Amino acid sequence: MDNLKLLITIAIVIPSILTADIDIVWNGGEKTANVSATAMSPGSRAEGGLWFDDSTKSYLFGGWSYNSISKEFTLTNDLWVLDVNTFHWSTLKPVANNKPTARYSPSICGIPSKMIVIYGGIDQDGKKLDDTWIYNLIDNSWEELTLSGNGSIISHPPGRGHQSSWCTSTMLIIFGGRNSEHKALHDMWSFSLVNQKWSEMESSKKYPSNSFGQTLVSYPKPRSGATSFQQGSLYLFGGNTAVIDSGETYVDGKYANDLWRYDIEKDSWTKIGGFDNVCHSGNYGHFQVASKNNWPGCRVKATGWVDTNGNLWMFGGDGADSTAESVTVFKPGRLLNDLWRYEFVFKMWSWMGGNKYGNTGGKYGESNSERYPGSRTSFMSFNRYSNFHHIYGGMGHDTNGKDGLLSDLWEIDVHKEVVYGKYPTISNVFMIIFGLCGLILLIVALSLYNRRFFRGSEKDKDKMSDTEYCMLTNIDDDD
Ligand SMILES: *[C@@H]1O[C@H](CO)[C@@H](O)[C@H](O)[C@H]1NC(C)=O
Ligand SMILES: *[C@@H]1O[C@H](CO)[C@@H](O)[C@H](O)[C@H]1NC(C)=O
Repeated sequence: MDNLKLLITIAIVIPSILTADIDIVWNGGEKTANVSATAMSPGSRAEGGLWFDDSTKSYLFGGWSYNSISKEFTLTNDLWVLDVNTFHWSTLKPVANNKPTARYSPSICGIPSKMIVIYGGIDQDGKKLDDTWIYNLIDNSWEELTLSGNGSIISHPPGRGHQSSWCTSTMLIIFGGRNSEHKALHDMWSFSLVNQKWSEMESSKKYPSNSFGQTLVSYPKPRSGATSFQQGSLYLFGGNTAVIDSGETYVDGKYANDLWRYDIEKDSWTKIGGFDNVCHSGNYGHFQVASKNNWPGCRVKATGWVDTNGNLWMFGGDGADSTAESVTVFKPGRLLNDLWRYEFVFKMWSWMGGNKYGNTGGKYGESNSERYPGSRTSFMSFNRYSNFHHIYGGMGHDTNGKDGLLSDLWEIDVHKEVVYGKYPTISNVFMIIFGLCGLILLIVALSLYNRRFFRGSEKDKDKMSDTEYCMLTNIDDDD
């Protein structure tokens, strides 16, 4: 009887290895859009800076918030801490009045328990900022980095907004963005967290071209709003490649869906695929099936991360869905909530979750199948240990399908999918073999128990059935 139960369990576990195993968790915030900040929560937010310190805290600086009295969006320069174990927010109160002006789309990075650094972004008047500020986490004070000394300007990136940023343990790296003339930038800079100095990459200094306007090196086109991913190498997806874009909106179809890898050691860019000159809609293919024909549509302001297998994941943003209408010139882009994975071994994308049609509302139900973040752009995100990705707020669709400023915090947990992935990498094959061996051993062990069961006393009998029950529940939990 028990062995039969076990066989049924195995029959459930094996197919579950073959379908994607992604948990979507709603960590807090409201289902409805336009929520004001309280003492306990920053409320609705878009385009603040969010940095995870690789242990227990995420720091949020600035961005758009919602004012329920004026019913307007207002820019902030406050600093919040999120405890990633409890998902409780609290504010950090700087000791002096000296602090960065309110802004959106700053770059953020830091050294755990020591400092937070922010750079650039756009202020209330639309000015693209070039300042760098350091928040000292030990004495709770802001200090602006000096940009001039001995009568000359110290080298630093010119002002910008909607740049792409990566944060490593030693550096904040930025690429592109848009300057005050709404011009797309291509330059790449790194800020050393140790020396607190900016320097431009050599490959960036060499860009763009010879006298014929041809790019001499493999290098991404100037752009704003490109999605960044990192793990060892840095990756970049899409963005707005329009040379001049005054409204920062989708006006001329110049949203891109090209994917690039940047090798930090070699200071070199390699194109993986996609288009940078005109917007293409997404090729979603079959749900959760990788194919050479699959490729995500053009977009800006999505989020991306790299899992522990080294594969890329991407969620949401503003751009083209699976329909041809979504690439129509002079139309605003669609807000997206699609989830994609790019596997390097197969060089293929798979559509792993969400909707292939844009502008969909969020689902906040009890079970995994009734829960999914609504379409959104300009949200904030952070990644925990590669396989747990969090997204927070942004502009998008709430539970009623209405547009507004969001306050919800989500976790996209792909760790089971990464370990028992559909397309077996060498390590996955080993995991499956190990798993099967373990189950066979369990059957053997249980049949041995069963034999002893009949020889044992009444008292032992109860004890033993308890043991079996525990083992079986453990297995059930895993599927
Ligand atoms: C200014 O110049 C002096 C002498 O060359 C040097 O010691 C000092 O570090 C410089 N200050 C800055 C801020 O660069
Ligand atoms: C949120 O506020 C903005 C600005 O006032 C408004 O345009 C939008 O319709 C609001 N959304 C909802 C769902 O209330």
